[in-house]
Amino acid sequence: MVKIAFNSALAQKALGKEVPAAVKDPEQGSAPSGNDGSTGRCLLTLLGIAFILSGLIVGGACLYRYFTPKRLYHGAMQFSDVSTGAGAESQPYYLPRVEEEVEISDSMAVISVPPPRFRPGDPAYILHDFNRKLTAYLDLTLRTCFVIPLNTSVVLPPQDLIDLFSQLMSGSYRSYLVHEDLVVTERIDDIKPLGFYIRRLCDGKETYRMQRRASLPGGGIQKRSADECFTLHHFANKFVTETRICKA
Ligand SMILES: *[C@@H]1O[C@H](CO)[C@@H](O)[C@H](O)[C@H]1NC(C)=O
Repeated sequence: MVKIAFNSALAQKALGKEVPAAVKDPEQGSAPSGNDGSTGRCLLTLLGIAFILSGLIVGGACLYRYFTPKRLYHGAMQFSDVSTGAGAESQPYYLPRVEEEVEISDSMAVISVPPPRFRPGDPAYILHDFNRKLTAYLDLTLRTCFVIPLNTSVVLPPQDLIDLFSQLMSGSYRSYLVHEDLVVTERIDDIKPLGFYIRRLCDGKETYRMQRRASLPGGGIQKRSADECFTLHHFANKFVTETRICKA
């Protein structure tokens, strides 16, 4: 031991600082350098993991705003159409029924309307963006989007919608029908200003702006082209809305 220590000390003295690592006494040189290597690799791995984790956290936080606190609800309503003149008493056997799946978050609600079973009609998505105050209807058969300002007297705010659907889960619900007559006014070429949710829904589809027929200049007298219309039954309140969308 003494001899080895002396030799290496002598060698270092003789060659100064320029002793290459390989020439050093293997007992002194190799053990610490092996430790250094594994510590370095360990640190790098830790750094890598920390980097990936921070990426996941930041990415998660970004996604959270758009995708997370949302829940899926299912509900059905039976309704009588008061406007046909027939009261609820004269429709004893069968009341039409609407079913919906709804995804509700703080800032939006997406309603999935399946095709009605015993009536003509298209499957559709209806998206209410509570921040932008817009509603978009996506007709899945026509692959066309229709956008109109959100009507807050028809669409309940998110928390009330959640309460309504919680109530609907515990049994059948009888309601009434409200008619809504909407008319396409213009095509929208750039859907970016409509916000993230509507952009995601209507991306790649023809998109049109709509107005209530009653708010059109000239009182909205209906033109004859009734075949350019389609009808949706849905609800976002305690009543069922029959939305008729016409291209003229
Ligand atoms: C909202 O809907 C109700 C019922 O259909 C209607 O009377 C009212 O005019 C609508 N409001 C707006 C701003 O469109």
